[in-house]
Amino acid sequence: MKETGYGTASGKIILMGEHAVVYGEPAIAFPFSGTNITAAIYPSTANTLDCLFYRGALDKAPASLKSVKALIHRFIKDFQIQRSFQLKIDSTIPAERGMGSSAAVAVAITRAFFDWLEIDATQKEILTYVEHAEKIAHANPSGIDAAAISGTSAILYQKGLALKPFDAKIDAFLVVADTGIKGQTRQAVKDVARLFEQDPKNVASLIEKIGQLTLTAQQALLENNPLVLGECMDQSQTALKALGVSHPALDDLIAEAKNAGALGAKLTGGGRGGCMIALAENHAAGKAIQQKLSDSGARAVWMQGLGVYANV
Ligand code: MEV
Repeated sequence: MKETGYGTASGKIILMGEHAVVYGEPAIAFPFSGTNITAAIYPSTANTLDCLFYRGALDKAPASLKSVKALIHRFIKDFQIQRSFQLKIDSTIPAERGMGSSAAVAVAITRAFFDWLEIDATQKEILTYVEHAEKIAHANPSGIDAAAISGTSAILYQKGLALKPFDAKIDAFLVVADTGIKGQTRQAVKDVARLFEQDPKNVASLIEKIGQLTLTAQQALLENNPLVLGECMDQSQTALKALGVSHPALDDLIAEAKNAGALGAKLTGGGRGGCMIALAENHAAGKAIQQKLSDSGARAVWMQGLGVYANV
């Protein structure tokens, strides 16, 4: 065991397929380099936690940190950790905005523990721990957040199937904007389930439609077809809105992005607030959309290259 352990994780973006993925449809996601989180473990006289929401004894941490607490206790138990430590978490991922902050916290902490224990863990081993924490945080997560954040490339994710990482070849940029409104993923997932019970035929067809659009979008990513990808994003937003998971603030930013020339725009993640994404055909178009979204009141706006520009 080393003196200190260190782990990082980025946020995630769901490009296509949120909510439908809970019902077994495919979804596309990738790590989002605009935001990140670090977890560091230092020797201490007692087990303590130091993060934005709480600083103090691990066992007295508030209920909002119960998944973090459970994850740490699982490491203590599984690896019979006797040494006391301080776990420090620093994050630029906005909480509850559809960027997977809870999964990212879990990935960063898991990596920090494995680093501290000097274990070279595989993504599968990391996921076992992250999924344990995510089940406590979200009740019925599809697992896409954990899978996207613990990897390094775009993935096609389908519940119960092996992860399918792929290289997006698309020559385009993604603008990501935060409405500043806390999303309610847990509630949104529950409400879609209720709607499914009330109107099974209609909801099943919306979910299926999102799944088909996701597969078309993946093809567009592989064949460098931004126009088709943009159209898939627009149609997916229409379906997500019909499922009741959009929000007026998301709708406004989506409309502004489209007016500013976006090829497509939609919410990302759980919805009901949180973040939206817009597809830009090149860097200059992305900058113009970014400016428009900032002027329209977005709390924060980022731009990330897709495919061929992934690291721009
Ligand atoms: C949340 O980032 C994505 C949802 O599809 C929920 C899930 O997959 O667990 C809304």
